[in-house]
Parts: sequence; C-alpha cells; structure tokens
Amino acid sequence: LKIAVFASGRGSNFQSIIDHIKSGEISAEVKLLISDRQQAGALKRAEHENVEHVFIDPAHFETKADYEKELIGLLKNAGVELIVLAGYMRILSPVFVKEFKNQIINIHPSLLPAFKGLDAQKQAVDYGVKFSGCTVHFVDQGMDTGPIIKQAVVEVKADDSPDDLAARILKQEHKIYPEAVKLIAEDKIEIEGRKVKILKEE
Ligand code: GRF
Repeated sequence: LKIAVFASGRGSNFQSIIDHIKSGEISAEVKLLISDRQQAGALKRAEHENVEHVFIDPAHFETKADYEKELIGLLKNAGVELIVLAGYMRILSPVFVKEFKNQIINIHPSLLPAFKGLDAQKQAVDYGVKFSGCTVHFVDQGMDTGPIIKQAVVEVKADDSPDDLAARILKQEHKIYPEAVKLIAEDKIEIEGRKVKILKEE
C-alpha cells in the first residue's frame, strides 16, 4: 500500500505508523510526507527516517484550489493509494476529497461525534465527561464526520488538565492509527454507507 502522510506539527502519529511499517507489522510504504508548516517536527522525523518529504507553503498559492492542485499532482505522481492525515490542521476541499474518495483517513482526539474540531481534549475536560478517547475515520466532506474505522476509550480523571488528557489519549492514538492502516493495507475494510465493516479472518 502506497501511503502519503499529511502533518502540520510534531508528527508523533506519523512516527508511530513508520515504526509499525519498519517492524514489519504493516505492509505499506510511506512514499511522501507533506507538511504545510516549515517548522513541523514531522518534516524532521521524515528526514531522519529517509522518507521523502516536502513543505508546501499554502501562502504561495493564490487560491486553495491551486494549493490542492499541487498536492494532487504530487500524490498522483507518487502513486499514492491512501492519504493519512496526522495532525494536519487544514480542511480539505470537497474537490480534493472527491479526488481520493474513501482513500483519506484522519485521527481525531475524541470519541466522535462528540467534540469535533479544534481542542477536542479541552472541550472534553471543560464539558466534564468521564471518558473520552480517539477516533480513526474516513474523511468525507464534513469536518470530523466520516465513517468511523476505530475508536479507543480513555478515562478522564478528576484533576486532568487538557494536556494531561491529551497525553493519555495520544498513547491510544499511537495504537489505533497503525491498526487502522494495517486493516486497510490488508484490504480488510468495507464501507457501507456510514458503517465500516471489518472483515475478520476465518
Ligand atoms: C493528535 O492529537 C491528533 O489526534 C490531532 O493532532 C494531533 C497530532 O499529533 N489530529 P502528532 O503531530 O501526530 O504528534
């Protein structure tokens, strides 16, 4: 499976996926790491892992459509079959999403459909929920709305700060994101409407 990862920041989920590929657990190849932020830790990690990486500055393009056209060109060139959003802080346009229908996945640090959007961990702490978690889902044209592949539940403790909760959730992200990529690499996933079916082995 030929993968591209999009990341705007630290890149720990990218790292976790790379680590699972290196250990032989996932049979896939990260062809390309794309970042919209020059300072992204993910770019450094890619360099260190000898993964082709590129900073594409959205500010260099007149329109979002032009920026995305550049991305689509790179992805098609590399023969990318799955786009993994790992802390990519931009919304992809409907045109982009259509171009890669059911080939884009995202991880979000809450149990969707609760706490969509930014600062999901702070939203959970402020709301006072006792459990939150993380969700891997296909990307559709909404924000954090696509069919759910995997979730993990995480306890919210009484004195948690948003950062405490984020750290606890991140550990689970590093588990379920590679698991989801593995399922896709092994062609064990079917989408029926909103529902993702995981095909079990005999
Ligand atoms: C993660 O919390 C992820 O759920 C959210 O952005 C953060 C990315 O972290 N979408 P990292 O860059 O993978 O370390």
